[in-house]
Amino acid sequence: MNINQETQKLSSAELIKVEDKYGAHNYHPLPVVLERGEGVYVWDVEGKQYYDFLSAYSAVNQGHCHPRILAALNEQAAKLTLTSRAFHNNVLGPYEKYITEYFGYDKVLPMNTGVEAVETALKLCRKWAYEVKGVARNQARIIFAGGNFHGRTLTVISASEDPSSTAGFGPYMPGLEIVPYNNLEALEKALDQENVAGFIVEPIQGEAGVFVPDEGYLKKASEMCKARNILFIADEVQTGIARTGRLLATCGNCNCEGFCENKPEIKPDILILGKALSGGVFPVSAVLANDEIMLSIKPGEHGSTFGGNPLACAVAMAALEVIRDEKLAQNAERMGKIFRERMQKLVDSSDLVTLVRGKGLLNAIVINDTQDSSTAWDICMKFRDNGLLAKPTHGNIIRFAPPLVMTEEQLHECCDIIEKTILNFNA
Ligand SMILES: Cc1ncc(COP(=O)(O)O)c(C=O)c1O
Repeated sequence: MNINQETQKLSSAELIKVEDKYGAHNYHPLPVVLERGEGVYVWDVEGKQYYDFLSAYSAVNQGHCHPRILAALNEQAAKLTLTSRAFHNNVLGPYEKYITEYFGYDKVLPMNTGVEAVETALKLCRKWAYEVKGVARNQARIIFAGGNFHGRTLTVISASEDPSSTAGFGPYMPGLEIVPYNNLEALEKALDQENVAGFIVEPIQGEAGVFVPDEGYLKKASEMCKARNILFIADEVQTGIARTGRLLATCGNCNCEGFCENKPEIKPDILILGKALSGGVFPVSAVLANDEIMLSIKPGEHGSTFGGNPLACAVAMAALEVIRDEKLAQNAERMGKIFRERMQKLVDSSDLVTLVRGKGLLNAIVINDTQDSSTAWDICMKFRDNGLLAKPTHGNIIRFAPPLVMTEEQLHECCDIIEKTILNFNA
């Protein structure tokens, strides 16, 4: 019997026990063990079907196991998967052309995970500051927004305010400063200091609880950066690629239907993408910038064994084509409006939910309890029992981020499940 046949005999409870015994305890997953996914649905090992309302933290925007993405994966996997960047491969160039035209930049630097792309952007920002802007060596400062989440490496946790990310992991990286999110006055003060190279920000803070900044905040922040020759860096790892009802959250009211028409509300100097860039098939991330910035990194100064591998390039092109051809940004915009309308009715009729907020299909509800209460978790357990998977973020906030291929009928069914669960919930 092979390993696959062995695991197929195990129940959810048994599989959770195995994970607990042999895996590091760095996560606290909802107790459900999934074995299959298709579109907006996932199934557990006992065969129960659920709506996925998290989409692997917005990595599965195109829906689980999208046939076009899988076809690209299989076709490329049978030919060539990895060359490293020691040699050229015949997919990297066409992918670089495709993605730079798609998002309207001169160049792309391909990486793997989201946090690697963030690290790359920060390195690029420092390099540009020394090579182009003329900041004195080792003096560059990068400004971060409070409440941020950029991943888990030592660099980015050095700019985190979340004690569960930082405690016990010091000493931290110097040269990073935090200003409150959505506060232009504080940002202006920080930008006016000497040697500021860049400001990095999530257009909507997903992990922190789907915080949408005030209208105009991002535009003004980017203008303030531009006026001071400081790079505006957008971390769109979670908000990017159609999630918020636009191709990028920084597109604002620009709503072009195909390739970027270069009329977005904000054009970040450095754009960071990950997650849905592969449709959730495996880690593919990217940093995009124009020549003046990107060419400050020279051969041998940065890299990754897997970054730009032909398999990732083929998958990413298919994933981006699906976004465009299936008009997923437009669908996210439409479904998001319906979703928030339904949730607002729930807020109006239940004392348990105090607020709904979000954009497109990146939304959250706030549960009427303290941050350290277990109420949001208990509600998510009931959602699970009723066939919908979601997870609290920061205690009393539940994030809702279903795949963007959801139809109106499916969305109403999900809203019915959420409504029924909340209205029948007894603490
Ligand atoms: C805004 C943002 N940046 C970076 C990351 C890190 O991505 P990864 O987990 O792929 O390293 C995340 C992950 O949730 C994120 O939401």
